[in-house]
Amino acid sequence: MKLLKIIGNQELTGSIRISGAKNSAVAIIPAVLLSTGTTTICNIPNILDIDVLEDTLKHLNVSVKRASGSMLIDTEKLQNNNIPVELSSKLRASYYFMAVLLARFKHVEMYFPGGCQIGNRPIDQTLKAFKAFGATIKNEDEKFIVDAKELKGTEIKLDMPSVGATINAILVGTLASSKTKILNAAKEPEIVDVCQMLNKMGAKITGYGTDTISITGVKELNSCNHDIIPDRIEAGTYTIIGSLLGNYLKIDNIIPNHIKSLTDKLIEMGIDIDIHEDYLIVNKNKDIKPIDIKTSYYPNFPTDLQQPFVTLLTQAQGISHVTETIYENRFMNIPYLNEMGAKIEIDNKDSKTLNIVGKTPLKGTKVKATDLRAGASLLIAGLIATGETKIEEINHILRGYEEIVEKLTNVGAKIEIEEI
Ligand code: EPU
Repeated sequence: MKLLKIIGNQELTGSIRISGAKNSAVAIIPAVLLSTGTTTICNIPNILDIDVLEDTLKHLNVSVKRASGSMLIDTEKLQNNNIPVELSSKLRASYYFMAVLLARFKHVEMYFPGGCQIGNRPIDQTLKAFKAFGATIKNEDEKFIVDAKELKGTEIKLDMPSVGATINAILVGTLASSKTKILNAAKEPEIVDVCQMLNKMGAKITGYGTDTISITGVKELNSCNHDIIPDRIEAGTYTIIGSLLGNYLKIDNIIPNHIKSLTDKLIEMGIDIDIHEDYLIVNKNKDIKPIDIKTSYYPNFPTDLQQPFVTLLTQAQGISHVTETIYENRFMNIPYLNEMGAKIEIDNKDSKTLNIVGKTPLKGTKVKATDLRAGASLLIAGLIATGETKIEEINHILRGYEEIVEKLTNVGAKIEIEEI
């Protein structure tokens, strides 16, 4: 078993380079299967989720070569093999394979996708999109069996701007006949990244980044070279860490606009942050003002930064409120933060709001990462706590943050992985 051991309260200085976006990479890698030939994807983060995708590609008889930060994918021998539940249950993104295999073979069989246990994560919007294209769906032995004689362009109005359903509809619409319109589409930068790659391959997609995406279907796609955008959630996580411990800490290789909802809040809280074209410099602050945040769809405050941000709010002078509107179960870090000395209460009226009373000193203890961003929240708590913090089940953290131990050690943190 692996533990993360942290000795807290070290000042952090130097530079942290942000890796390629996890949630782009996990969609772009399956999306490549829509094309024929050899595609090179650069800026791939070296995280556990990508290892699972590599295994899935190999299972589909796709040739994969990985070098540092890049992946060469040759789809020439792609086969529509059923993806075993051991692979598909490891990550949410496995349902992108559902869309690409349906688009290529008009038939796919797959189990319900996995992912962090942060609430009910239905896939009804993806299934609704598949049906709108003309597919039929059977559910047998917990497996979805999706068939289509023909996939016809259509108009799909999503009930909510789901990232996954938007990408799945784009993937099918790209190779469907005639025109597709996706209304109430998600606008996340990762969707823009996927569409830009598909267009390089010959797809005809417009309107991405807005709530209406239009697609003119094409018969086939060619290979291309593509660089994944920097990870806005990783950038946000390190910016929060810098707000607590930074001494001219540079967060490098970022797209500032992608984290504006965070940096606007940090500036309002009095954090000293200097934003440049593709990097920012952040300093720790003694007097952090409390603030209220509410998570929502892009470009609003991202749910994926909610848990790391809560740790920061424990150090603000006064009462802050956090409302989580995307997931019902994204507060599993709270009991551990309270064990470390935080004063956080889950509002019992709606169970969606936290009342955080600061400033509370935190002290190191043994805690558990229940999911990826809860793990990031506890890691930040460990970095500011007195004494030693040990985090169990760190695979959740390693699923999403590339070389997190090395990146933090390089700027002065005392953090290491302990094998027991
Ligand atoms: N929803 C439905 N039906 C659907 C799809 C979604 O009700 O068919 C609901 C979900 O239950 C949730 C909300 O809509 O309440 C948003 O879900 P969405 O589909 O947008 O999320 P996702 O595609 O499953 C991606 C990221 C998540 C991130 C969300 C929101 C990937 C692989 N995952 O998930 O990332 O929280 O978008 O931005 O891209 C993470 O990185 O820690 C993570 C959980």
